[in-house]
Amino acid sequence: MTCTRQASDEQIRQAAVKVLRLNDLGTMTTAAPNLYPHMWSWDAAFVTIGLSRVSVPRAIQELRTLLSAQWSTGMIPHIVFSDNATGYFPGPERWGTDSVAARPAGVRTSGICQPPVHAIALRHVVDRGRENGGSDQSAAEAFLEESFEQWMAWHRWLVDARDPDGTGLIEIHHGWESGFDNSPRWDAAYGRVRPGRVEPFTRRDTLHVADAAQRPDDAEYTKYLWLVQQMESVGYDDKLVPGLVDFRVRDVFFSAILAASSDGLAGLAEEIGHSTEAAELRRIASRFQNGVAATVDPVTGLARDYDVRAGEWISTRTVSGFAPLISGGEKALLEAQRDLLRGPEWMGYRGLAFALPPSTSPGSPAFKPRTYWRGPVWPFLNLLLGWASRRNGQEELCGELREASLCQLSDLAFGEYYEPFTGEPLGSLAQSWTAAAALEWLA
Ligand code: GLC
Repeated sequence: MTCTRQASDEQIRQAAVKVLRLNDLGTMTTAAPNLYPHMWSWDAAFVTIGLSRVSVPRAIQELRTLLSAQWSTGMIPHIVFSDNATGYFPGPERWGTDSVAARPAGVRTSGICQPPVHAIALRHVVDRGRENGGSDQSAAEAFLEESFEQWMAWHRWLVDARDPDGTGLIEIHHGWESGFDNSPRWDAAYGRVRPGRVEPFTRRDTLHVADAAQRPDDAEYTKYLWLVQQMESVGYDDKLVPGLVDFRVRDVFFSAILAASSDGLAGLAEEIGHSTEAAELRRIASRFQNGVAATVDPVTGLARDYDVRAGEWISTRTVSGFAPLISGGEKALLEAQRDLLRGPEWMGYRGLAFALPPSTSPGSPAFKPRTYWRGPVWPFLNLLLGWASRRNGQEELCGELREASLCQLSDLAFGEYYEPFTGEPLGSLAQSWTAAAALEWLA
Protein backbone atom coordinates (compact mmCIF):
# COMPACT_ATOMS: atom_id res chain seq x y z
CA MET A 1 0.00 0.00 0.00
CA THR A 2 1.40 3.37 -0.94
CA CYS A 3 0.35 6.55 0.79
CA THR A 4 0.86 10.23 0.30
CA ARG A 5 2.65 12.30 2.87
CA GLN A 6 1.21 15.62 3.94
CA ALA A 7 4.60 17.10 4.83
CA SER A 8 8.25 16.67 3.81
CA ASP A 9 10.78 14.81 5.94
CA GLU A 10 12.27 18.12 7.00
CA GLN A 11 8.89 19.52 8.02
CA ILE A 12 8.17 16.41 10.06
CA ARG A 13 11.56 16.62 11.72
CA GLN A 14 11.21 20.26 12.63
CA ALA A 15 7.71 19.81 13.99
CA ALA A 16 8.77 16.79 16.06
CA VAL A 17 11.76 18.64 17.51
CA LYS A 18 9.43 21.48 18.41
CA VAL A 19 7.08 19.15 20.31
CA LEU A 20 9.95 17.74 22.35
CA ARG A 21 11.22 21.23 23.05
CA LEU A 22 7.82 22.50 24.17
CA ASN A 23 7.33 19.51 26.49
CA ASP A 24 10.82 19.88 27.93
CA LEU A 25 10.86 21.08 31.54
CA GLY A 26 14.68 21.23 31.57
CA THR A 27 15.60 17.87 33.04
CA MET A 28 12.50 15.93 32.10
CA THR A 29 10.20 15.78 29.11
CA THR A 30 6.55 15.54 30.05
CA ALA A 31 4.66 12.79 28.25
CA ALA A 32 2.28 15.42 26.82
CA PRO A 33 1.53 19.09 27.48
CA ASN A 34 -1.77 18.87 29.40
CA LEU A 35 -3.01 15.35 29.88
CA TYR A 36 0.31 14.00 31.17
CA PRO A 37 2.37 16.79 32.79
CA HIS A 38 4.98 14.42 34.29
CA MET A 39 7.56 11.83 33.23
CA TRP A 40 6.31 8.33 32.44
CA SER A 41 8.85 5.55 32.57
CA TRP A 42 8.44 3.85 29.22
CA ASP A 43 7.58 7.12 27.48
CA ALA A 44 10.93 8.42 28.77
CA ALA A 45 12.74 5.57 27.03
CA PHE A 46 11.16 6.39 23.66
CA VAL A 47 11.71 10.10 24.24
CA THR A 48 15.38 9.32 24.86
CA ILE A 49 15.59 7.47 21.54
CA GLY A 50 14.16 10.52 19.76
CA LEU A 51 16.27 13.01 21.70
CA SER A 52 19.46 11.10 20.92
CA ARG A 53 18.90 12.13 17.27
CA VAL A 54 18.83 15.77 18.35
CA SER A 55 21.15 16.08 21.33
CA VAL A 56 23.01 13.22 22.98
CA PRO A 57 23.61 15.16 26.24
CA ARG A 58 19.89 15.98 26.51
CA ALA A 59 19.01 12.33 25.87
CA ILE A 60 21.36 11.28 28.66
CA GLN A 61 19.71 13.80 30.96
CA GLU A 62 16.34 12.17 30.36
CA LEU A 63 17.58 8.78 31.54
CA ARG A 64 19.43 10.37 34.43
CA THR A 65 16.25 12.02 35.67
CA LEU A 66 14.42 8.71 35.45
CA LEU A 67 17.19 6.95 37.36
CA SER A 68 17.12 9.60 40.08
CA ALA A 69 13.66 8.23 40.92
CA GLN A 70 14.71 4.58 41.15
CA TRP A 71 13.69 2.97 44.41
CA SER A 72 16.32 1.27 46.60
CA THR A 73 14.71 -2.06 45.68
CA GLY A 74 15.72 -1.47 42.06
CA MET A 75 12.22 -0.64 40.87
CA ILE A 76 11.88 2.23 38.40
CA PRO A 77 8.51 3.86 39.08
CA HIS A 78 6.05 4.41 36.25
CA ILE A 79 5.60 8.12 36.99
CA VAL A 80 8.21 10.62 38.13
CA PHE A 81 6.24 13.67 39.18
CA SER A 82 7.33 17.11 38.10
CA ASP A 83 7.08 19.82 40.74
CA ASN A 84 3.75 20.83 39.29
CA ALA A 85 1.95 17.78 40.62
CA THR A 86 -1.41 19.46 40.93
CA GLY A 87 -2.46 19.06 37.30
CA TYR A 88 -2.81 15.31 37.33
CA PHE A 89 -4.82 12.66 39.07
CA PRO A 90 -3.81 10.38 40.78
CA GLY A 91 -0.96 12.55 42.08
CA PRO A 92 1.66 11.64 44.68
CA GLU A 93 -0.72 12.07 47.64
CA ARG A 94 -3.10 9.53 46.24
CA TRP A 95 -0.25 7.10 45.59
CA GLY A 96 0.85 7.56 49.21
CA THR A 97 4.48 6.99 48.27
CA ASP A 98 5.94 9.88 50.26
CA SER A 99 6.22 7.64 53.31
CA VAL A 100 7.74 4.65 51.49
CA ALA A 101 11.34 4.22 52.65
CA ALA A 102 12.51 2.66 49.37
CA ARG A 103 11.67 5.84 47.45
CA PRO A 104 14.67 8.19 47.03
CA ALA A 105 14.42 11.39 49.05
CA GLY A 106 13.37 14.51 47.20
CA VAL A 107 11.66 12.80 44.24
CA ARG A 108 7.95 12.05 44.18
CA THR A 109 6.84 8.97 42.30
CA SER A 110 4.03 6.48 41.76
CA GLY A 111 4.37 3.05 43.34
CA ILE A 112 4.20 0.72 40.32
CA CYS A 113 6.34 0.16 37.22
CA GLN A 114 6.09 0.00 33.41
CA PRO A 115 7.81 -2.11 30.71
CA PRO A 116 11.64 -1.89 30.78
CA VAL A 117 12.40 -0.40 27.37
CA HIS A 118 15.26 1.60 28.88
CA ALA A 119 18.24 -0.54 27.94
CA ILE A 120 17.09 -0.34 24.33
CA ALA A 121 17.13 3.44 24.69
CA LEU A 122 20.56 3.29 26.32
CA ARG A 123 21.83 1.31 23.32
CA HIS A 124 20.57 4.09 21.03
CA VAL A 125 22.30 6.76 23.12
CA VAL A 126 25.62 4.93 23.03
CA ASP A 127 25.35 4.31 19.29
CA ARG A 128 24.47 7.93 18.52
CA GLY A 129 27.31 9.10 20.77
CA ARG A 130 29.79 6.92 18.88
CA GLU A 131 28.48 8.05 15.51
CA ASN A 132 28.89 11.70 16.47
CA GLY A 133 32.25 11.16 18.20
CA GLY A 134 33.94 13.82 20.33
CA SER A 135 32.19 14.99 23.48
CA ASP A 136 28.97 13.12 22.59
CA GLN A 137 30.88 9.87 22.51
CA SER A 138 32.68 10.48 25.79
CA ALA A 139 29.46 11.60 27.50
CA ALA A 140 27.55 8.54 26.29
CA GLU A 141 30.29 6.12 27.26
CA ALA A 142 30.76 7.75 30.65
CA PHE A 143 27.01 7.56 31.26
CA LEU A 144 26.96 3.88 30.38
CA GLU A 145 29.71 3.16 32.93
CA GLU A 146 28.15 5.37 35.56
CA SER A 147 24.61 4.04 35.24
CA PHE A 148 25.24 0.38 34.49
CA GLU A 149 24.69 -0.92 38.03
CA GLN A 150 21.36 0.90 38.22
CA TRP A 151 20.06 -0.75 35.05
CA MET A 152 21.30 -4.06 36.36
CA ALA A 153 19.41 -3.49 39.63
CA TRP A 154 16.24 -2.70 37.67
CA HIS A 155 16.42 -5.93 35.65
CA ARG A 156 17.27 -7.99 38.73
CA TRP A 157 14.36 -6.50 40.64
CA LEU A 158 11.96 -7.43 37.85
CA VAL A 159 13.23 -10.99 37.77
CA ASP A 160 13.29 -11.48 41.55
CA ALA A 161 10.18 -9.58 42.62
CA ARG A 162 7.98 -10.27 39.61
CA ASP A 163 8.96 -13.77 38.55
CA PRO A 164 10.12 -15.49 41.74
CA ASP A 165 8.96 -18.88 40.43
CA GLY A 166 10.98 -18.69 37.22
CA THR A 167 8.04 -18.86 34.80
CA GLY A 168 9.79 -16.63 32.29
CA LEU A 169 6.88 -14.17 32.51
CA ILE A 170 6.59 -10.97 34.53
CA GLU A 171 3.63 -10.59 36.87
CA ILE A 172 1.92 -7.22 36.98
CA HIS A 173 -0.44 -5.91 39.66
CA HIS A 174 -2.22 -3.16 37.79
CA GLY A 175 -3.25 -2.68 34.15
CA TRP A 176 -1.25 0.55 34.25
CA GLU A 177 1.93 -1.47 34.72
CA SER A 178 1.44 -2.99 31.27
CA GLY A 179 1.23 0.45 29.66
CA PHE A 180 -1.86 -0.94 27.83
CA ASP A 181 -4.08 0.56 30.54
CA ASN A 182 -7.60 -0.46 29.54
CA SER A 183 -6.84 -3.03 26.85
CA PRO A 184 -9.37 -5.86 26.42
CA ARG A 185 -6.45 -8.02 27.61
CA TRP A 186 -7.40 -7.04 31.15
CA ASP A 187 -11.20 -7.12 30.93
CA ALA A 188 -11.70 -10.55 32.49
CA ALA A 189 -9.20 -9.88 35.27
CA TYR A 190 -10.80 -6.53 36.06
CA GLY A 191 -14.21 -8.15 35.80
CA ARG A 192 -13.31 -10.20 38.87
CA VAL A 193 -12.10 -7.21 40.90
CA ARG A 194 -14.71 -6.22 43.53
CA PRO A 195 -13.59 -2.85 44.90
CA GLY A 196 -14.05 -2.17 48.59
CA ARG A 197 -14.47 1.39 49.82
CA VAL A 198 -12.49 3.69 47.54
CA GLU A 199 -11.65 7.19 48.78
CA PRO A 200 -13.69 9.81 46.81
CA PHE A 201 -11.96 11.13 43.70
CA THR A 202 -12.20 13.63 40.86
CA ARG A 203 -10.69 12.57 37.58
CA ARG A 204 -8.70 14.99 35.47
CA ASP A 205 -8.06 12.93 32.33
CA THR A 206 -11.63 13.55 31.14
CA LEU A 207 -11.05 17.31 31.39
CA HIS A 208 -8.34 17.10 28.72
CA VAL A 209 -9.93 14.63 26.31
CA ALA A 210 -13.19 16.17 25.11
CA ASP A 211 -14.78 12.88 24.08
CA ALA A 212 -15.22 10.86 27.30
CA ALA A 213 -16.00 7.74 25.26
CA GLN A 214 -12.30 7.57 24.31
CA ARG A 215 -11.37 7.11 27.97
CA PRO A 216 -12.05 4.37 30.53
CA ASP A 217 -15.37 4.84 32.36
CA ASP A 218 -15.79 5.66 36.07
CA ALA A 219 -16.45 2.07 37.10
CA GLU A 220 -13.16 1.03 35.50
CA TYR A 221 -11.43 3.96 37.15
CA THR A 222 -12.74 2.97 40.58
CA LYS A 223 -11.08 -0.41 40.15
CA TYR A 224 -7.80 1.22 39.12
CA LEU A 225 -7.84 3.26 42.32
CA TRP A 226 -8.86 0.30 44.43
CA LEU A 227 -5.75 -1.58 43.33
CA VAL A 228 -3.58 1.44 44.14
CA GLN A 229 -5.20 1.58 47.58
CA GLN A 230 -4.53 -2.13 48.16
CA MET A 231 -0.84 -1.81 47.31
CA GLU A 232 -0.48 1.42 49.23
CA SER A 233 -1.93 -0.25 52.35
CA VAL A 234 1.24 -2.39 52.60
CA GLY A 235 3.64 0.33 51.48
CA TYR A 236 4.14 -1.36 48.08
CA ASP A 237 6.05 -4.15 49.82
CA ASP A 238 7.13 -6.62 47.10
CA LYS A 239 6.64 -9.60 49.40
CA LEU A 240 3.17 -8.61 50.59
CA VAL A 241 1.52 -7.21 47.47
CA PRO A 242 0.99 -10.52 45.61
CA GLY A 243 -0.88 -11.96 48.59
CA LEU A 244 -3.43 -9.18 48.79
CA VAL A 245 -3.82 -7.49 45.42
CA ASP A 246 -6.91 -8.37 43.35
CA PHE A 247 -5.12 -8.15 39.99
CA ARG A 248 -2.31 -10.60 39.23
CA VAL A 249 -1.53 -11.21 35.61
CA ARG A 250 1.54 -12.46 33.76
CA ASP A 251 2.07 -9.87 31.04
CA VAL A 252 3.51 -11.36 27.88
CA PHE A 253 4.39 -8.06 26.19
CA PHE A 254 6.17 -6.71 29.27
CA SER A 255 8.09 -9.99 29.45
CA ALA A 256 9.10 -9.72 25.80
CA ILE A 257 10.45 -6.24 26.36
CA LEU A 258 12.44 -7.51 29.33
CA ALA A 259 13.95 -10.22 27.11
CA ALA A 260 14.89 -7.75 24.37
CA SER A 261 16.26 -5.19 26.80
CA SER A 262 18.26 -7.75 28.76
CA ASP A 263 19.85 -8.93 25.56
CA GLY A 264 20.71 -5.34 24.65
CA LEU A 265 22.09 -4.61 28.09
CA ALA A 266 24.19 -7.78 27.90
CA GLY A 267 25.85 -6.41 24.77
CA LEU A 268 26.59 -3.12 26.51
CA ALA A 269 27.90 -4.98 29.57
CA GLU A 270 30.36 -6.88 27.39
CA GLU A 271 31.57 -3.66 25.84
CA ILE A 272 32.53 -2.30 29.25
CA GLY A 273 34.06 -5.52 30.51
CA HIS A 274 31.27 -6.71 32.83
CA SER A 275 31.33 -10.27 31.57
CA THR A 276 29.70 -11.88 34.61
CA GLU A 277 26.73 -9.51 34.40
CA ALA A 278 26.60 -10.02 30.64
CA ALA A 279 26.21 -13.76 31.16
CA GLU A 280 23.50 -13.18 33.78
CA LEU A 281 21.64 -10.87 31.41
CA ARG A 282 21.82 -13.39 28.58
CA ARG A 283 20.28 -15.97 30.89
CA ILE A 284 17.48 -13.55 31.74
CA ALA A 285 16.96 -12.83 28.04
CA SER A 286 16.64 -16.47 27.12
CA ARG A 287 14.43 -17.30 30.11
CA PHE A 288 11.92 -14.62 29.15
CA GLN A 289 12.22 -15.35 25.44
CA ASN A 290 11.25 -18.95 26.21
CA GLY A 291 8.53 -17.79 28.57
CA VAL A 292 7.02 -15.65 25.82
CA ALA A 293 7.26 -18.38 23.17
CA ALA A 294 5.49 -20.84 25.46
CA THR A 295 2.38 -18.63 25.59
CA VAL A 296 1.67 -18.76 21.86
CA ASP A 297 -1.83 -20.00 21.13
CA PRO A 298 -1.51 -22.83 18.60
CA VAL A 299 -4.83 -21.87 17.03
CA THR A 300 -4.44 -18.09 16.62
CA GLY A 301 -0.64 -17.85 16.56
CA LEU A 302 -0.80 -14.96 19.03
CA ALA A 303 1.06 -14.81 22.35
CA ARG A 304 -1.14 -14.73 25.45
CA ASP A 305 -1.15 -13.27 28.95
CA TYR A 306 -1.99 -15.45 31.93
CA ASP A 307 -4.40 -14.60 34.75
CA VAL A 308 -2.76 -15.93 37.91
CA ARG A 309 -5.79 -15.57 40.18
CA ALA A 310 -8.14 -17.29 37.78
CA GLY A 311 -5.54 -19.78 36.57
CA GLU A 312 -6.47 -19.04 32.95
CA TRP A 313 -4.89 -17.99 29.68
CA ILE A 314 -6.14 -14.69 28.34
CA SER A 315 -7.03 -14.96 24.66
CA THR A 316 -7.76 -11.55 23.19
CA ARG A 317 -6.77 -10.31 19.77
CA THR A 318 -4.55 -7.38 20.65
CA VAL A 319 -1.22 -6.23 19.28
CA SER A 320 0.48 -7.63 22.41
CA GLY A 321 0.03 -11.02 20.75
CA PHE A 322 3.11 -10.11 18.70
CA ALA A 323 5.31 -10.26 21.80
CA PRO A 324 7.59 -12.90 20.21
CA LEU A 325 8.59 -10.41 17.51
CA ILE A 326 9.81 -8.16 20.33
CA SER A 327 11.52 -10.82 22.45
CA GLY A 328 13.09 -12.53 19.46
CA GLY A 329 13.09 -16.30 19.17
CA GLU A 330 13.17 -19.18 16.76
CA LYS A 331 13.08 -18.39 13.07
CA ALA A 332 9.87 -20.30 12.33
CA LEU A 333 7.97 -18.53 15.12
CA LEU A 334 9.21 -15.11 14.02
CA GLU A 335 8.25 -15.79 10.41
CA ALA A 336 4.78 -16.97 11.38
CA GLN A 337 4.30 -13.88 13.53
CA ARG A 338 5.53 -11.60 10.76
CA ASP A 339 3.08 -13.12 8.28
CA LEU A 340 0.23 -12.79 10.76
CA LEU A 341 1.07 -9.15 11.45
CA ARG A 342 1.14 -8.32 7.74
CA GLY A 343 -2.02 -10.31 7.12
CA PRO A 344 -5.71 -9.38 6.80
CA GLU A 345 -6.46 -9.22 10.54
CA TRP A 346 -3.78 -6.60 11.24
CA MET A 347 -1.69 -4.40 8.93
CA GLY A 348 -3.64 -5.70 5.95
CA TYR A 349 -7.10 -5.16 7.41
CA ARG A 350 -9.39 -3.78 4.70
CA GLY A 351 -9.95 -0.04 4.80
CA LEU A 352 -7.19 1.00 7.20
CA ALA A 353 -6.04 4.59 6.69
CA PHE A 354 -2.43 3.41 7.07
CA ALA A 355 -1.12 -0.16 6.99
CA LEU A 356 -0.34 -0.18 10.71
CA PRO A 357 -1.56 -2.58 13.39
CA PRO A 358 -4.50 -1.35 15.50
CA SER A 359 -4.09 -1.96 19.25
CA THR A 360 -7.00 -4.41 19.05
CA SER A 361 -7.81 -6.24 15.81
CA PRO A 362 -10.85 -4.75 14.04
CA GLY A 363 -11.98 -8.34 13.64
CA SER A 364 -12.30 -8.75 17.39
CA PRO A 365 -15.64 -8.17 19.15
CA ALA A 366 -13.75 -6.02 21.68
CA PHE A 367 -12.63 -3.57 18.97
CA LYS A 368 -13.54 0.09 19.48
CA PRO A 369 -11.87 2.38 16.93
CA ARG A 370 -11.71 5.51 19.12
CA THR A 371 -11.28 4.13 22.61
CA TYR A 372 -7.73 4.32 23.92
CA TRP A 373 -6.24 0.79 24.00
CA ARG A 374 -9.32 -0.87 22.52
CA GLY A 375 -8.58 -0.20 18.86
CA PRO A 376 -6.64 2.94 17.96
CA VAL A 377 -3.15 2.73 16.44
CA TRP A 378 -0.32 3.77 18.79
CA PRO A 379 2.70 5.18 16.86
CA PHE A 380 5.35 4.44 19.50
CA LEU A 381 4.47 0.74 19.36
CA ASN A 382 5.07 0.68 15.64
CA LEU A 383 8.53 2.08 16.21
CA LEU A 384 9.20 -0.71 18.71
CA LEU A 385 7.93 -3.30 16.23
CA GLY A 386 10.11 -1.75 13.54
CA TRP A 387 13.18 -1.82 15.75
CA ALA A 388 12.54 -5.46 16.61
CA SER A 389 11.85 -6.53 13.04
CA ARG A 390 15.15 -5.05 11.97
CA ARG A 391 16.97 -6.89 14.74
CA ASN A 392 15.14 -10.04 13.60
CA GLY A 393 16.44 -9.54 10.05
CA GLN A 394 12.91 -8.76 8.80
CA GLU A 395 13.93 -5.70 6.82
CA GLU A 396 10.89 -5.69 4.60
CA LEU A 397 8.47 -5.51 7.52
CA CYS A 398 10.53 -2.74 9.06
CA GLY A 399 10.40 -0.78 5.80
CA GLU A 400 6.64 -1.12 5.56
CA LEU A 401 6.13 0.04 9.13
CA ARG A 402 8.41 2.99 8.51
CA GLU A 403 6.69 4.08 5.31
CA ALA A 404 3.20 3.89 6.80
CA SER A 405 4.27 5.52 10.06
CA LEU A 406 5.82 8.51 8.33
CA CYS A 407 2.65 8.93 6.30
CA GLN A 408 0.57 8.82 9.45
CA LEU A 409 2.84 11.24 11.31
CA SER A 410 3.04 13.69 8.42
CA ASP A 411 -0.18 15.25 9.74
CA LEU A 412 2.20 16.92 12.23
CA ALA A 413 -0.35 16.45 15.05
CA PHE A 414 1.72 13.81 16.89
CA GLY A 415 -1.41 12.26 18.34
CA GLU A 416 -1.27 9.96 21.30
CA TYR A 417 -3.22 7.42 19.24
CA TYR A 418 -5.02 7.34 15.87
CA GLU A 419 -8.38 6.16 14.59
CA PRO A 420 -7.37 3.21 12.36
CA PHE A 421 -9.82 3.84 9.48
CA THR A 422 -9.99 7.63 9.27
CA GLY A 423 -6.43 8.33 10.45
CA GLU A 424 -7.74 10.99 12.84
CA PRO A 425 -5.31 11.84 15.67
CA LEU A 426 -6.95 11.23 19.06
CA GLY A 427 -6.26 11.61 22.77
CA SER A 428 -3.57 14.10 23.53
CA LEU A 429 -1.89 15.93 20.66
CA ALA A 430 1.81 16.86 20.73
CA GLN A 431 2.51 13.62 22.58
CA SER A 432 6.25 13.32 23.25
CA TRP A 433 6.84 9.68 22.39
CA THR A 434 4.94 10.08 19.12
CA ALA A 435 7.26 12.94 18.15
CA ALA A 436 10.24 10.87 19.25
CA ALA A 437 9.09 7.97 17.09
CA ALA A 438 8.92 10.31 14.08
CA LEU A 439 12.50 11.46 14.66
CA GLU A 440 13.78 7.92 14.87
CA TRP A 441 11.86 6.80 11.78
CA LEU A 442 13.32 9.71 9.81
CA ALA A 443 16.89 8.82 10.66
C1 GLC B 1 -1.27 6.31 29.17
C2 GLC B 1 -0.76 5.08 28.42
C3 GLC B 1 0.60 4.69 28.96
C4 GLC B 1 1.54 5.88 28.88
C5 GLC B 1 0.95 7.13 29.54
C6 GLC B 1 1.75 8.38 29.27
O1 GLC B 1 -1.47 6.04 30.51
O2 GLC B 1 -1.65 4.02 28.54
O3 GLC B 1 1.12 3.60 28.25
O4 GLC B 1 2.76 5.57 29.46
O5 GLC B 1 -0.34 7.35 29.05
O6 GLC B 1 1.87 8.62 27.90
